Amino acid sequence: MNVLVTGGAGYIGSHTCLELLENGYGVIVIDNLCNSNPKSLDRVQELTGKTLKFYEGDVRDETLLTKIFTENEIGCVIHFAGLKAVGESVAKPWEYYDNNLNSTLVLTKVMKQFGMKNIIFSSSATVYTADNEMPLKETSRTGNCTNPYGWTKYMTEQILSGMATAEADWSIVLLRYFNPIGAHKSGRIGEDPRGIPNNLMPYITQVAVGRRESLSIFGDDYDTPDGTGVRDYIHVVDLAKGHVAAVRYATENKGCEVFNLGTGVGYSVLDMVHAFIDANRVPVPYNIVERRPGDIATCYADPAKSAEKLGWKAELGLMDMCRDSWNWQKNNPMGYGE
Ligand code: NAD
Ligand code: UFG
Repeated sequence: MNVLVTGGAGYIGSHTCLELLENGYGVIVIDNLCNSNPKSLDRVQELTGKTLKFYEGDVRDETLLTKIFTENEIGCVIHFAGLKAVGESVAKPWEYYDNNLNSTLVLTKVMKQFGMKNIIFSSSATVYTADNEMPLKETSRTGNCTNPYGWTKYMTEQILSGMATAEADWSIVLLRYFNPIGAHKSGRIGEDPRGIPNNLMPYITQVAVGRRESLSIFGDDYDTPDGTGVRDYIHVVDLAKGHVAAVRYATENKGCEVFNLGTGVGYSVLDMVHAFIDANRVPVPYNIVERRPGDIATCYADPAKSAEKLGWKAELGLMDMCRDSWNWQKNNPMGYGE
């Protein structure tokens, strides 16, 4: 079966293409490369010894999507394409709503025209409200997002679940990711953020490799064991495997289901820094600064529903995540840019 992967050249997309190929699926990618490098796809093909088909273009381009569906027999879509920087979304709300909502609307319009209604969507733990008890279950409260990026994920969930209510032949899987880090163990594909990294692990690895002087830890006065923020970090390879399980689920079940993809374990920022230093024996200078606006103290998943219904759970631990993040960064100090 062929899977159309939108945003397949990106961080999570490239790891998922690799897992799909290794599990015998055909892979077709559409990506406009606005936040990625096509070398990721070359390397996925090198690593697997298999080929995939790449269309460079925008998911909002209905003519291109129609061509892709005409030229290929597609059994499922995984929709990663979108803009993802929280801070940038506050500065550029229109671009975020346009990209993230219109891509989904055009994609599902063309899917309807071709009668292919199986889709996996990349949602986020950011859709949960800040006042929930931990761990977060799929039934925990959602909404009250604090930025346009979060609203695009919330709204896309509403759009897709509304479609499944209206038309019984949709198979829709909404995956709420927690904090993906790590890289493929080969060190050939990984996360390659443009500019100054927003997220913790790429910042740590860029400090370790000498591209940045020191890590700023945003606040040490949260109500957590050591005062720094606690998150549910998940290895990107585990996350990619969750998508293979979701494709299987979508091709066997109708309706709309939501799943957390997390480990169920929370680590603090200081836990992460110390684990990284222990795993890799490299220094990571840091200093404590003010809290970052919009951050919450603690966020981690209850992954029980994914284990029960998708038959998936995260297998890799903190040391694997730290080792593989560093293996990617030290072998590719400038990312794909070399
Ligand atoms: P990424 O930026 O590495 O990948 C997204 C890819 O989509 C990029 O290759 C980009 O070029 C492409 N793209 C963007 N808009 C497009 C468009 N209109 N048409 C075609 N291609 C387009 O990001 P990622 O970390 O791999 O995230 C993948 C998805 O998962 C995103 O939807 C993101 O919001 C979601 N997500 C990510 C995280 C995270 O922490 N990385 C957490 C929760 C959810
Ligand atoms: N942090 C630092 N210094 C940094 C970067 C981060 O101390 O330079 C801290 C943050 O304050 C937070 C933790 O590290 O306590 C994790 O921060 P990230 O930015 O890596 O991740 P977030 O949990 O803030 O956000 C991520 C994604 C969002 C997504 C959210 C929930 O970036 O897109 O997880 O899935 F919405």
